[in-house]
Amino acid sequence: RLSRSLSITSLSGLPLWEEESLDVQDLLLFEVSWEVTNKVGGIYTVIQTKAKITVDEWGENYIMMGPYYEHNFKTQVEKCEPPNQAIKAAMDSLINNGCQLTDQLQDKPNVIAHFHEWQAGTGLVLSRSRKIPLATVFTTHATLLGRYLCAGNADFYNNLDKFNIDQEAGERQIYHRYCLERAAVHCAHVFTTVSQITAVEANHMLHRQPDVVTPNGLNIRKFSAMHEFQNLHSMNKAKIQEFVRGHFYGHLDFNLEKTLFFFIAGRYEFSNKGADLFLESLSRLNYLLRVQKSDVTVVVFFIMPAKTNNFNVESLKGQAVRKQLWDTAQSVKEKFGKRLYESLLRGEIPDMSKILDRDDFTIMKRAIYATQRHSFPPVTTHNMLDDSTDPILSNIRRIGLFNGRNDRVKIVFHPEFLSSTSPLLPMDYEEFVRGCHLGVFPSYYEPWGYTPGECTVMGIPSVTTNLSGFGCFMEEHVSDPSEYGIYIVDRRFRSADESCNQLTQFMFSFCQQSRRQRIIQRNRTERLSDLLDWRYLGRFYMHARHLALSRSFPGKFKMDHLNLAPVSLSHSLRCTLMHSHFPRSLTMRT
Ligand code: UDP
Ligand code: G6P
Ligand code: GLC
Repeated sequence: RLSRSLSITSLSGLPLWEEESLDVQDLLLFEVSWEVTNKVGGIYTVIQTKAKITVDEWGENYIMMGPYYEHNFKTQVEKCEPPNQAIKAAMDSLINNGCQLTDQLQDKPNVIAHFHEWQAGTGLVLSRSRKIPLATVFTTHATLLGRYLCAGNADFYNNLDKFNIDQEAGERQIYHRYCLERAAVHCAHVFTTVSQITAVEANHMLHRQPDVVTPNGLNIRKFSAMHEFQNLHSMNKAKIQEFVRGHFYGHLDFNLEKTLFFFIAGRYEFSNKGADLFLESLSRLNYLLRVQKSDVTVVVFFIMPAKTNNFNVESLKGQAVRKQLWDTAQSVKEKFGKRLYESLLRGEIPDMSKILDRDDFTIMKRAIYATQRHSFPPVTTHNMLDDSTDPILSNIRRIGLFNGRNDRVKIVFHPEFLSSTSPLLPMDYEEFVRGCHLGVFPSYYEPWGYTPGECTVMGIPSVTTNLSGFGCFMEEHVSDPSEYGIYIVDRRFRSADESCNQLTQFMFSFCQQSRRQRIIQRNRTERLSDLLDWRYLGRFYMHARHLALSRSFPGKFKMDHLNLAPVSLSHSLRCTLMHSHFPRSLTMRT
């Protein structure tokens, strides 16, 4: 069972340390990232969700820096005056001199500068080479080369120690970026990454072992009543059902009450995010549900941004047809109601077959006629620019999941992040996740992977893998994650074909649950939320900052015991990384 206190104190294999507190009055903390107010992927989520606990600790002495995009600036932050003279002076200097640093901060408080990823690394390297007295932290959320190698289908984990990294970076034309990343890593007083599996990777790809592992947290929303998140599921599921009614118009021969919504979401890295494994498993699931004559239908959403040229006509038409039917039903209902009322007032029960006139029938027939379609409901919601070469579409063509009537698994590829202002599926991502039944994230390369964690805190079960930081974290801290609705696909010790079967089996068993079982499972899933709360996980960031202070200003910040805390990989993880076989290529079913 989950043992909360134990899990929290021994997270990531770090030695225990007492709650660290620091007097931040004479300190400034800068956090610099390309994803401050700029959503690209999960790093944005780190920065955005962590903000609250950091401000609670640092107040106005905490400053974030990111790229200036007018739209983001207008919609995400409020303009304000610089909180103190030192910052005002630094800002004036930046504005007047075009990003040149002055020495005005020198006699001011000690500064911690925390940089995320190679894009922000320049600041770190320059501040060290110019000997600016800063305590620096560098966090990488992946290694550039690791991501490239995996996306290129390298047998990554079996060859971690064998790559000629300079050569590989050169061949992939990322040498300059890779050098910047490596320089930042080596210049930093403290180097951190988000999971143990990425710590091992960083050691090989960047030749420095991270000092601290900083697992990613979330802001946990506490409901006063347990059933509130279940109600949210119900409400948002109804919105997804509305979309499905429109999208599948003319083909609604499946029971929406027995339809489950699965999804995968994130940046479009086809094999890194495990979309290849997912599609293959869906094909097997479709087969199983068909031969078992199951009355369950699964609608699967792929939310991965690709290049598009707007929504496609057929998808928009679907929603228009649905709206038209709704309007028709409302107007007929109104007429019906009025006549019924009149009749009752006269003390008569009307003749039901005559209560509607010819016109009403004509309107209804016309509306029904509009629902006829001669093609399958579309797989994509948008016009894809690279339709013929797109990996998701190519694989759908290969496995033949075209939303046919007999298919029990239907696919909707929404190649854009979700937005509540969409004319098609007007929901934001959080609402959408809440309305779904299962998130499926069978990643091959995933330093952390926020998406399954986000499902967890909303009480939605999900699938992850033992190659993702999140999956390993859960495996390490929860004795039987699947009991809590976290299914971990084994992509380490099994062949790709076996992993695929395992994923198929997870999904098939999920389809066999009753509504009551799903409700109970959601309650259990939500109970894991505390484990992912920044209120606990934030202390790893604190620790990294304190360590940086003690290393850069040793005279002033003596924290002897902290210097003894290099990241110690848990024994089990180190063993599996050394001795396991990591299957890579998937034998596709033809
Ligand atoms: N996400 C989103 N809108 C969507 C789909 C995903 O905002 O329609 C967010 C999601 O909430 C998550 C992030 O994208 O926080 C993806 O982060 P993750 O760590 O899973 O992967 P990354 O893209 O950073 O590799
Ligand atoms: C929540 C609601 C219930 C609803 C259920 C549907 O638990 O509180 O009223 O019946 O969701 O669950 P399902 O898994 O079928 O979407
Ligand atoms: C990166 C990783 C992802 C992680 C995120 C936040 O984008 O790909 O796995 O969750 O950073 O740390």
